[in-house]
Amino acid sequence: SAHVENDLVNVLFTEAQIQERLGELAARIEDDYAGKDLLIVGILRGAVMVMADMARSFSRHLEMDWMAVSSYGSGTKSSGVVRILKDLDTDISGRHVIIVDEIIDTGLTLSWLTSNLTSRNPASVEICTLLRKPEALQMPVDVKYVGWDIPNEFVVGYGLDYKEQYRNLRDIGTLAPHVYS
Ligand code: PRP
Ligand code: MG
Repeated sequence: SAHVENDLVNVLFTEAQIQERLGELAARIEDDYAGKDLLIVGILRGAVMVMADMARSFSRHLEMDWMAVSSYGSGTKSSGVVRILKDLDTDISGRHVIIVDEIIDTGLTLSWLTSNLTSRNPASVEICTLLRKPEALQMPVDVKYVGWDIPNEFVVGYGLDYKEQYRNLRDIGTLAPHVYS
């Protein structure tokens, strides 16, 4: 269909639900980091929407930075080897850092990123993800802030892509079967 939202067969989370949940997570983070400086790090490209909306539901000061990473051997992520395409512009030594992503699937990306950032001697590193698939986890990842745990289904929208499309959907959902054929 010409309209991108028509390809969603099942909406899991609406725009309103997502905004409400991000507000709750931001409020918790504000409490937990009261009196501390805070740097949130978004993982390109999927985390763009979460970063933009969550950052704007904070009432405190914070800094934002970005990383882009890629798994070796395009396509398969099973190696767990990650390469940095764009590093932080910020020296995080002594800083309180929260890595922000929109989904944890196998956990390989965030597991690798956590140890990479931890090696830079920050004051702390935590993870905030909008979605997590517990059944898909291959690496243990200690996640402090989770929007929702979801079943091991392929979801798109709100930053999540299928072949680079559907990131611009406001809702998150599953694709109609005709899209894949
Ligand atoms: C996706 C998603 C997470 C990661 C999660 O990013 O945005 O960053 O995979 O998968 P994992 O838990 O199995 O490591 P992707 O590398 O596809 O790039 P993108 O953010 O540009 O879509
Ligand atoms: Mg990503």
